[in-house]
Amino acid sequence: MMVVLPSLVLALLCLPQAGAQVPVQPGFDAEKFAGMWYVTAAVSNCSMFLKMKDGMKSSIATISFTPEEDLVLKLVWPMLDRCQTFELLFHRSEPVGHYVGTSAGAKRELRVMETDYGSYAIVHELQQSGREPSTALQLLTREQDASPQLLQKFEKLIPTVGLTRDMLAVLPKSGECQEGGGGGWH
Ligand SMILES: *[C@@H]1O[C@H](CO)[C@@H](O)[C@H](O)[C@H]1NC(C)=O
Repeated sequence: MMVVLPSLVLALLCLPQAGAQVPVQPGFDAEKFAGMWYVTAAVSNCSMFLKMKDGMKSSIATISFTPEEDLVLKLVWPMLDRCQTFELLFHRSEPVGHYVGTSAGAKRELRVMETDYGSYAIVHELQQSGREPSTALQLLTREQDASPQLLQKFEKLIPTVGLTRDMLAVLPKSGECQEGGGGGWH
């Protein structure tokens, strides 16, 4: 059975090692980072991701923050004829822009490496569970299509986190789960 899962979820299912020296966006502003993003490209060494990446489509990530400044990540992705949603909570950590989540014995770390808030963000993820640790980078964009310039910027970062270009998936858009706000999701 072939099930299309969003890259972000796969990366999170897999996660790694205490994040070595992954940079975080200086002066990270959570308020400006919140809102809806398209996951337009992903690279990961998670074996499940590598197996499925060619069938994946772009998913939608909606980010919000609790009063405690913890990060809530809601993902919506097309699966068969429906839109599936998935929600994860990450606690704020240091420095600002670094978040840590745990569930079912797996530790997940998320770092906003780089963002201009208005058009793109590059998010680094690390998952450490009973299995092998894994690392992932996601390119989030406010528009549904990533420009060639953004993809190039993203690709340049791949080797800096110990991954390689053959692990990259540029995710095609899917018309099925449009826009935030919940219209038509079931
Ligand atoms: C993924 O890459 C990271 C960083 O290079 C490494 O620590 C980890 O062991 C790798 N995991 C797998 C499953 O290859």
